[in-house]
Amino acid sequence: CGIVGYIGKRDVAPLLLEGLARLEYRGYDSAGIALHASGTGKSAGLKTAKAKGRVRELEARLPKRFAGTTGIAHTRWATHGAPTDDNAHPHLDAEGKIAVVHNGIIDNAAELRARLTADGVVFASETDTEVLAHLIGRSPAETLEEKVREALRHIEGTYGIAVLHSDFTDRIVVARNGSPVVLGIGEHEMFVSSDVAALVSHTRQVVTLDDGEMATLKADDYRTYTTEGSRTTATPETVEYAAESYDLGGHDTYMHKEISEQADAVDRALRGRIDDRFSTVHLGGLNLDAREARTIRRVKILGCGTSYHAGQIGAQMIEELARIPSDAEPASEFRYRDPVVDPDTLYVAVSQSGETYDVLAAVQELKRKGARVLGLVNVVGSAIARETDGGIYVHAGPEVCVVSTKCFTNMVVSFALLALHLGRIRDLSVADGKRIIEGLRKLPGQIDEILKGEEEIKKLSAAYADAKSMMFIGRVRGYPVAREASLKLKEVSYIHAEAYPASELKHGPLALIEPAMPTVAIVPDDDLLEKNRAALEEIKARSGRILAVAHQDQEKADDTIIVPKNEPELDPILMGIPLQLLAYHTALALGRDIDKPRNLAKSVTVE
Ligand code: G6P
Repeated sequence: CGIVGYIGKRDVAPLLLEGLARLEYRGYDSAGIALHASGTGKSAGLKTAKAKGRVRELEARLPKRFAGTTGIAHTRWATHGAPTDDNAHPHLDAEGKIAVVHNGIIDNAAELRARLTADGVVFASETDTEVLAHLIGRSPAETLEEKVREALRHIEGTYGIAVLHSDFTDRIVVARNGSPVVLGIGEHEMFVSSDVAALVSHTRQVVTLDDGEMATLKADDYRTYTTEGSRTTATPETVEYAAESYDLGGHDTYMHKEISEQADAVDRALRGRIDDRFSTVHLGGLNLDAREARTIRRVKILGCGTSYHAGQIGAQMIEELARIPSDAEPASEFRYRDPVVDPDTLYVAVSQSGETYDVLAAVQELKRKGARVLGLVNVVGSAIARETDGGIYVHAGPEVCVVSTKCFTNMVVSFALLALHLGRIRDLSVADGKRIIEGLRKLPGQIDEILKGEEEIKKLSAAYADAKSMMFIGRVRGYPVAREASLKLKEVSYIHAEAYPASELKHGPLALIEPAMPTVAIVPDDDLLEKNRAALEEIKARSGRILAVAHQDQEKADDTIIVPKNEPELDPILMGIPLQLLAYHTALALGRDIDKPRNLAKSVTVE
């Protein structure tokens, strides 16, 4: 979900619509705006407009007279209640004096709703957020700040909220607990959003609220304070990336743009980190000295979706280069199975947004149990980056397409850096350190080489786009590559795909193989080459069609995409890239909504 708000002198509706469009990647099943109707003073009242569907539908539905200079808006990804007009935010109190937009989830909403209903409140929606609007509306407190504070006292759960009140037209009150709220500081105007993406075209001066913090925004100033009411100091910071980094930059989709940016992104992840003198890398934010690093006996990586797959490749790299037993697990599963939290284990939380609720909750659970937790995160200053003891920023730059590409690649590169760093503290030789560094330096050039083959891959995509289902296989280093490629294809093209270790084919999935079920096989030139070839034979013997991603032509495959060879430990970084293009062009051929696949959202800040 996404929040945006503005207070100043400009016409607010177009500003909010533009902000919403920038936030749509975070949720896009309904949207809405509330504003103070302009020019009519204190009792002018609030005006709202809402629509199921995309922001452009909301735009088409705005009433003729919908002017004002202060307003809040929201784009939603449904949790409580279906995506309908009524369930779209903002939500109002019974008198229509208060408008609330909310990200997050109110855990005790059902209980509060029952209590309010018993008191005669009639609800207009099925959302948890509406509870908050009524609570604020019923507060006898005098100021808006106190009303909000009092309402929040009843709330259990997470929130990022922005509130308008028709009796207080000179301000927007916002609050944060677990869901981001960023203030944008302008000249005689202030912005608020859940994401800097909606702010950067107006200002790069931002203040990120902490959990338990609130703020009052007025056109000419802002102040921050805790939910208990004591003032806090907030010094604006400058956003790292300029507005252009959030634009399409000549591409038709963000996915294409982000795939194309990978050489630069990897270059950024490496910049300033390589130490040739000791054949290792500097990771300034790690907060882990050599002695401490030597005490690590296991590494456990936690993430969701694509980030979890990056973690699987990362675990393999750490195990190979640092010889520490390592594995990755979905953060959501980890935190619900009452895991044994071991003091000798290094935990690594991996996340593009740094906000994914399941990952954040796993980090918090680990911290409560005294574990050492590092973050491998893209968004600087995000919740996971703040909650961890140290970590590595992956520096992929803003990623807007819901399906992750460049950030995945940068995560895997960052894991390679971590593996090298830990390896060189432990048993990895100088010569091997040097070999990996040389491999890392080759990556940007090799990525560009792969991307030059786009036309070829586009043709292949057309040839495979009629498949109803596809199998992805790989072994050891190649298996997580296959898993990620399969996820990429299904989320963006809606073609069913499943990934299997090539070695497991004969234990079941071989039953599915027939001409209509193509297989994508990851076949690097490593010590498993012959084994992988044997798997291709098994498929061919059942008349299966094969597309191989390999370092050399594969005789048994119907088609082969050749990828340049790097060091075997780093090959997984490159082998997934052509398959991002395969997913992209398949989705394009099928006419899919590439940047915003159905039912998905970029950041899942709820459970
Ligand atoms: C969502 C996105 C995925 C992403 C996952 C984890 O499900 O649709 O693309 O991989 O969240 O997100 P994170 O921001 O934690 O990497």
